[in-house]
Amino acid sequence: MTDMKIDQDNVTEIGSLKDYVGECVTVLGWIDGVRSHGKVGFLLVRDGTGILQGVVLKEDSSEDMWALHESMTLECSVSLTGEVREEPRAPGGFEMGVIKLEILGSSHDYPIQPKEHGVDFLLDHRHLWLRSSRQRAGLRVRHEVEQTIHDYFYERGFIRIDSPILTGAIGESAGSLFETEYFGQQAYLAQTGQLYVEAACPAFRKVYCFGPTFRAEKSKTRRHLTEFWMIEPEVAFADTEDNMQLQEDFVRYIVKRVMERCGDQLEILGRDLGDLNMVLEPFERISYTDAVDLLRKKGNSIEWGSDLGAPDEQQLTEEFGRPLFVYEYPRSVKAFYMKQNPDDEKTVLCNDLLVPGYGEIIGGSQREDDLDLLLGRIREENLPEESYSWYLDLRRYGTFVHSGFGLGLERTVGWITGIRHIRELIPFPRMMNRLSP
Ligand code: 4AD
Ligand code: MG
Repeated sequence: MTDMKIDQDNVTEIGSLKDYVGECVTVLGWIDGVRSHGKVGFLLVRDGTGILQGVVLKEDSSEDMWALHESMTLECSVSLTGEVREEPRAPGGFEMGVIKLEILGSSHDYPIQPKEHGVDFLLDHRHLWLRSSRQRAGLRVRHEVEQTIHDYFYERGFIRIDSPILTGAIGESAGSLFETEYFGQQAYLAQTGQLYVEAACPAFRKVYCFGPTFRAEKSKTRRHLTEFWMIEPEVAFADTEDNMQLQEDFVRYIVKRVMERCGDQLEILGRDLGDLNMVLEPFERISYTDAVDLLRKKGNSIEWGSDLGAPDEQQLTEEFGRPLFVYEYPRSVKAFYMKQNPDDEKTVLCNDLLVPGYGEIIGGSQREDDLDLLLGRIREENLPEESYSWYLDLRRYGTFVHSGFGLGLERTVGWITGIRHIRELIPFPRMMNRLSP
């Protein structure tokens, strides 16, 4: 490495250069591209806050400096000093007339070149792939969505409850658990924080958790990760109708804010805003039973009672072209904690929210608040009753109508950015065949 001393007084982030036009500053970053036209060299430097075009003129440079500029390779880290000028044709709108140049860290044979690479290669090099423009754009939108989620709930008086990741209770289903030994006891990585936010409702009324959740999904699809982030609000004295209203308002708020603040990113990603603008209109609603009828009329052979699969969801969202609630699914395909429909014991008071291109991004429900019915469901599903004694207490001591939902962060960001595979929307994806980097 270099022993160069950085004179922080003059160092400026590229994102702030508009305040330094006409001044001599130093920029630190990584080489994103190099072009030479005979006597003029262009160095594109990226520092995480923006991109700057550095211009090196042969006639103004010493031989050493000209040779140094010619030796610059992709992703070497550099220090550039010079005068900042406005230049509408340059990426970012500014350029620098470089008078001093240093390589801080060299980079030879950078594996990711400006050409097509296979996705396995890119995933093997995820630690480097993060630097490329589409990945930066997608992850910046993820960051904006995360902040928006916290702002949304903070502004509405929800209390954030951090739910445990190591747990003894099966949150969703026995089929996709990561098990681990816990000092002689059986433990699981949490599939959901829901049961814990339910417990926090009588303490705070409106709560949410937001953290990583784990599912040992053996499916290798574009919509599944084994570790993904979920945001799960829970509200006391809210029924299934209130729950859907909250989901609609929440999703609309997120999309609007990304459109307001991440225009540059959506443009880099080539996102067509047509169906995103549809979130401003009321969402569609259809019962599961009507959805099955509709699908069958369209030639789909789905039977009442089976869960909607990805192709079914896709057919439905294509039909409506906007976000769509499907509500009241059969009890047999949904989790044990959902409230039985008082008008039809075969269904539960739940909903999924489906969006074009991705299908389900939210699963939500009113919770079973009747002790005996809940116990019946735990037994029906052969779940270990002992590990739910604390959860059943919530029905023993002041049971209450309550509802909540879980929004999958990566699928939501995938839908908003138009990136098809959710593995690109988490910095270091975990999938069935991928634990590294
Ligand atoms: O429908 P799910 O399983 O619901 C729950 O976990 C409830 N406990 C939520 C609640 O009511 N509090 O998952 C919720 C969402 C899905 O709609 C999907 O967006 C996402 O989590 N999700 C996944 N995302 C990526 N990879 C996976 N393997 C996912 N499984 C679920
Ligand atoms: Mg679901």
